[in-house]
Amino acid sequence: MREHELLVAADAEFAATGAAWLAARIEEAVAARGRCTLALAGGTTPAPVYGALAETHGETLPWDRVELYFGDERCVPPDHAESNYRMVREALVERLPGARPSVHRMEGEEPNADRAARRYEELLPGVLDVVVLGMGADGHTASLFPGSQAFEHPERRVLAVSGPKPPSLRLTITPTVIELARDVLVLVRGTEKAERLAEVLHAPVDPHARPVQLALRGTWLVDPAAAGRGGTGSAGAAE
Ligand code: 6PG
Repeated sequence: MREHELLVAADAEFAATGAAWLAARIEEAVAARGRCTLALAGGTTPAPVYGALAETHGETLPWDRVELYFGDERCVPPDHAESNYRMVREALVERLPGARPSVHRMEGEEPNADRAARRYEELLPGVLDVVVLGMGADGHTASLFPGSQAFEHPERRVLAVSGPKPPSLRLTITPTVIELARDVLVLVRGTEKAERLAEVLHAPVDPHARPVQLALRGTWLVDPAAAGRGGTGSAGAAE
């Protein structure tokens, strides 16, 4: 497995660094294959990165060649405060000044979550160009929590699961989708994640116990607090 790339950046530079990384991947994918398929993470960490992507690269990227997907979704309606779709729409899509991407949302409002998962499997491409992921302090990513049953279903690409982070009922891509992606970006911020991040990057690889290790070959953009550097890191510092 390729060694991870670690970028450390604080505050506004965190968002700008993530946005620049994503813009470069979008341009590469469109140049190589005519479109970019990009699965986005939910949670709080990515929103400023998506905002910087819209503000700094909104006019220059070929957004009509971008197809947005989701790595996970909470089982709530699309206008709910906890909806990842709503966050992406507000942070990124609605802030684009011109052309917009196609947005393929997970149906969090579908009462039969398994049906929603199977429908999403049908529209998810076989290989995504880029998957953006977050990390919980317990080492989860997307909605793959430690010990997740998703690891017992390698044939599935999207599953309905329940996890400890509220809202507990969720739809998630599976390890298979992360493993097949052409590129992965992991976004991690905050002191409360520092200990787990160090463990994830340096302990033996066991994604069943530490699901975010599925992304070890990717680029990890972390802030100085999560990197255990006490607030003095700068963009581009690499491991
Ligand atoms: C979600 C996620 C989840 C998230 C992490 C980190 O929808 O909850 O996609 O995997 O990325 O829990 O969340 P924060 O960025 O809010 O810490």
